[in-house]
Amino acid sequence: MADNDSGVTDRTEWERFHDLEAPTYDLQEYTRNAIAEVDFLIEALNLSAGESILDVACGTGRHSVELARRGYAVTGIDISAGMLAQAEAKARAAKVSVELIRANACSFCAPKQFDAAICLCEGAFGLLSSTDDPIEQPLSILRNISHSLKPGAKSLFTVLNGLRFIRSHAQADVEQQRFNPATMTAVSEVPPSDGLPPMRLVERGFIPTELDLLFRLAGMSVLNMWGGTAGNWGRRTVELDEMEIMILAENTAK
Ligand SMILES: C[S@@+](CC[C@H](N)C(=O)[O-])C[C@H]1O[C@@H](n2cnc3c(N)ncnc32)[C@H](O)[C@@H]1O
Repeated sequence: MADNDSGVTDRTEWERFHDLEAPTYDLQEYTRNAIAEVDFLIEALNLSAGESILDVACGTGRHSVELARRGYAVTGIDISAGMLAQAEAKARAAKVSVELIRANACSFCAPKQFDAAICLCEGAFGLLSSTDDPIEQPLSILRNISHSLKPGAKSLFTVLNGLRFIRSHAQADVEQQRFNPATMTAVSEVPPSDGLPPMRLVERGFIPTELDLLFRLAGMSVLNMWGGTAGNWGRRTVELDEMEIMILAENTAK
């Protein structure tokens, strides 16, 4: 595993959380559909045999390794060494090669250009550290992905549905600072475990119109927005209360 230390300075709350979660991540219900998700994304991204794919915040490599098994040239980046160690073991068990790089998606820009990119199950998108700006964080990730893609290349994202954030929080959540409607951020407190201190995790929801704008600002155009909840991906209109939105985009930058 390569370590691209651009942007990986002090461990962020999300990095610590994912390091802790890494050994059991693939036991979560929502991770069980990776094979079907890979079928879906090969078709949606219109991938041709052997093409190169950048998996941003690849986690335990459940998509990266399956794509490599099907003959694609995959590079996965992630901020969590624990998640990358799982991905490395998974690639070894599957006897495939995946380039794995430890990097922060907010600053990582690939030295080569890829045929396609994926950033799934949020990836890094909207998982904010305490110092991240809620507009600049997702925008920087999109800009870096756009720069890492060939002109016209497609990308597929699943991101937290802000419509659900709004509908699932009450005024009391705003008053008790669990939800901030100005930044579209929600806070969850993770109790101390394994001798580690409690963590305060901040995640950001997105509404479709702002996603369209963020993608345009980053040099990508949105081709489709569909329901993207893990376990229920579909070419359908986003449902108000579903967990995630899927975005299929095309790189317009030269
Ligand atoms: C919910 S997991 C999703 C992993 C994988 N894409 C999947 O679909 O299973 C989120 C991942 O984002 C990574 N991550 C969080 N913030 C990041 C950042 N700023 N840069 C790179 N990776 C990040 C975490 O380490 C974790 O592996």
